[in-house]
Amino acid sequence: MDLKQAFSATIFCLLLLFCVGCRCRPLEIEATQTATLKVDASPQLARKIPETLFGIFFEEINHAGAGGIWAELVSNRGFEAGGSHTPSNIAPWSIIGDDSSIFVATDRTSCFSRNIVALRMEVLCNNCPAGGVGVYNPGFWGMNIEDGKAYNLIMYVKSPETTDLTVSLTSSDGLQNLASATITVSGTSNWTKVEQKLVAKGTNRTSRLQITTNKKGVVWLDQVSLMPEDTYKGHGFRTELISMLLDLKPRFLRFPGGCFVEGEWLRNAFRWRESIGPWEERPGHFGDVWHYWTDDGLGYYEFLQLAEDLGAAPIWVFNNGISHNDEVDTVAIAPFVKDVLDSLEFARGSADSTWGSVRAAMGHPEPFPVKHVAIGNEDCGKKFYRGNYLKFYNAIREAYPDIQMISNCDGSSRPLDHPADLYDFHVYTDSKTLFNMRSQFDRTSRSGPKAFVSEYAVWRSDAGRGSLLASLAEAAFLTGLEKNSDIVQMASYAPLFVNDNDQTWNPDAIVFNSWQHYGTPSYWMQTIFRESSGAMIHPINISSRYSSSLAASAITWQDSENSFLRVKVVNFGSNTVSLTISTSELEASVNSLGSTATVLTSGNVMDENSFSNPNKVAPVKSQLSNAAEQMQVTLAPHSFTTFDLALAQSKLVAEM
Ligand code: AHR
Repeated sequence: MDLKQAFSATIFCLLLLFCVGCRCRPLEIEATQTATLKVDASPQLARKIPETLFGIFFEEINHAGAGGIWAELVSNRGFEAGGSHTPSNIAPWSIIGDDSSIFVATDRTSCFSRNIVALRMEVLCNNCPAGGVGVYNPGFWGMNIEDGKAYNLIMYVKSPETTDLTVSLTSSDGLQNLASATITVSGTSNWTKVEQKLVAKGTNRTSRLQITTNKKGVVWLDQVSLMPEDTYKGHGFRTELISMLLDLKPRFLRFPGGCFVEGEWLRNAFRWRESIGPWEERPGHFGDVWHYWTDDGLGYYEFLQLAEDLGAAPIWVFNNGISHNDEVDTVAIAPFVKDVLDSLEFARGSADSTWGSVRAAMGHPEPFPVKHVAIGNEDCGKKFYRGNYLKFYNAIREAYPDIQMISNCDGSSRPLDHPADLYDFHVYTDSKTLFNMRSQFDRTSRSGPKAFVSEYAVWRSDAGRGSLLASLAEAAFLTGLEKNSDIVQMASYAPLFVNDNDQTWNPDAIVFNSWQHYGTPSYWMQTIFRESSGAMIHPINISSRYSSSLAASAITWQDSENSFLRVKVVNFGSNTVSLTISTSELEASVNSLGSTATVLTSGNVMDENSFSNPNKVAPVKSQLSNAAEQMQVTLAPHSFTTFDLALAQSKLVAEM
């Protein structure tokens, strides 16, 4: 054998060994691993988790608000979607009737000076076709009109001659009539506000609103709104989507973005001042980062109201004079600072203060408790960030010493070079990286500002459109945040919502269309952390050859009646695990009555939920009959399991 042959033979042998090794792997995958998890529940080592740890981040992205939780059914209700220009972009309004019978255009004749564009509809036919001619609005990919429910139409109308308008809710082709009313508009050169309740006599998930007439003449329309009568607390929010949020028990609401706050250009950034007051007078704006128009019905006031309705602390992210592409020089930032101080007076000022009185006039005389603000979003590297930041920081500190301020600069690995109460931390990555980031904050300095992990998620190929795999890595990451909650004060998943018709960002926690919704596995994962905020966390120790695939935490928490030791374990690997959980120093004994196990898993780690199978990957709860201080349990491959051990001093036991 020459040298070359010997070399080839060696390579061959190595390959053979490798292949044999590989062939062994399936056996390994099927094997059951063993592990021991010890919980030290002694009160001396327990630490209280901040009351605010887990909350939500709402961004106007993916039509989360307009065409989402904001229940307004008309899209582009003021005909302003092109900005305050003429001609404006009329879409998605369309005409009913052909060009020879109707001529529709926009002009600048509205009675509302801040949104001056109105729709001019010239009816050319004397004997118009049956059903009339006019315009329709399809809403946001169709309106969900439900049998027996009431819808409140408001619109502003002007017609020099007296005329009749028929307002109807119909199917998308106009053939099925669900509700209709005829309104007589008196001939005048003034605008008239028309209000009409429509009660549906059928259900259609993709309906439209029609405004038609049979009479020749000119009619102007503006600010056409159709709101379901039934909204959450009458505050304009879609009830079923709010109940998804309530199920998360969010302790804070970060709003309204995200990049939405910044804009691609400053002229398109969210401006709180333009989003308050009577809805008819709001100009609306084009969110140029996520590429859609919003009428700003869901404005600054409504966000504060939403936080209150959810029992969550409002966290106002404001634009700091910086967008993706342009910046205000620090020497010129003073008006922006004044604007933000005004926003805080709007939220917190007394009802007789300048801006507090505007809030009171909108229906909320009591202040909203804004205790946190974020100075910009993801702008740390920008040229004027630090300069602008300090101007905002100093002015807010002076006017509102109790407000906690959040910097965009990451302070987890090195100290910040500017004062802050918290720093923002965002992470979007693959599942393995996020799983390993469960120890991200273990070595972070304990002095200095706290961390606000305001955006986290697994994305790209590991996430699909919301996979089990993503939720497992995220759960592991959150166990790490719980353990480090002496330094991590708040955390929220992103993005929260997606209208299935406009998925700009993938994945998202809650998917909806005009009438359906479901939670992704990442949504369900978050429900399992809802009891952690304000609970006590205990040290744990895992010993296993397999521990690099496991993540866990232990808390004690209480519901209105009982106390529980909750042990959460993520099995990120593909092996079944036989786990021994042993607890020491518990102040009460474990009672199997009332103890439960909840498992989030599925047959395939890439499984997702969908409208047709919304609970394919959802937590399944069962009684835990062998609950004890020491117990043997089994963890399914690729699973997130929660053991709630009822503690004996609980009322449940006392009553027996
Ligand atoms: O959550 C989606 C986007 O991700 C946010 O708008 C932004 O803050 C981040 O880059």
